[in-house]
Amino acid sequence: MANNKLDNLRVRISGNHPVKILFVCLGNICRSPAAEGVLCAIVNEHNASANWEIDSAGTYGGHAGQLPDQRMRVHARRRGYDLTHRARRFRPADFDDFDIIIAMDGSNERDLRDMARTTSDLDKIVPMIDFVRMATRYDHVPDPYYEGAEGFELVLDLLEDGCRNIFEVLDPSVQ
Ligand code: 4NP
Repeated sequence: MANNKLDNLRVRISGNHPVKILFVCLGNICRSPAAEGVLCAIVNEHNASANWEIDSAGTYGGHAGQLPDQRMRVHARRRGYDLTHRARRFRPADFDDFDIIIAMDGSNERDLRDMARTTSDLDKIVPMIDFVRMATRYDHVPDPYYEGAEGFELVLDLLEDGCRNIFEVLDPSVQ
C-alpha cells in the first residue's frame, strides 16, 4: 500500500482499541473466512487477541449459516488453520461496527461502495491486495470457487502475506 494511504488509515484508526476489521468476499465461504482464520492465528501467536476484533461476511447471502467450503477448510487445515466461521451476509450496520472493511476483489469493493451511506463508510473500504507484498500477477485476491487446488493455495499464500502485513502495520502495540 502507498505510504500516504497507509498513513491515512493509521491516523483514522489511531486510538481504536480493539481494531475492528471485517473481511468481505462474495460467498463468505472461501476467501474471507480464510482471511479471518489467518489473521486470528497471527494475532494469537502474538498474544494480541485483546487488540483485535476480527470477522468476515459475504456480499451474497446464499451460503449464510454454512461452514467454509470443504476444499478451503482442507487446504487451510494443512497450514494449521481451523476455519469455523459460519457464513453471513454483509449488512450496512457493519459500516458502524467495524473500522476497516477489506474487500477481496474489485467486484466486492464495488458492491460495498454501493452500500456505503456516508464518506466515512467509503473511507473504511480497503482492497486486500493493497496489503500483499509478495510478487504476484494479481491485482485482487482471485475467487477460487471454480478453480482447482492451486487456486486455494494461491489464496492462502496471498492471505498469509497480506495478514502478516496488516498485523505489522495496524496492531495497536506498534502504532
Ligand atoms: P468466496 O467464494 O467469495 O471466496 O466465498 C465463492 C463462494 C461461493 C460462490 C462464489 C464464490 N458462489 O457462486 O456460490
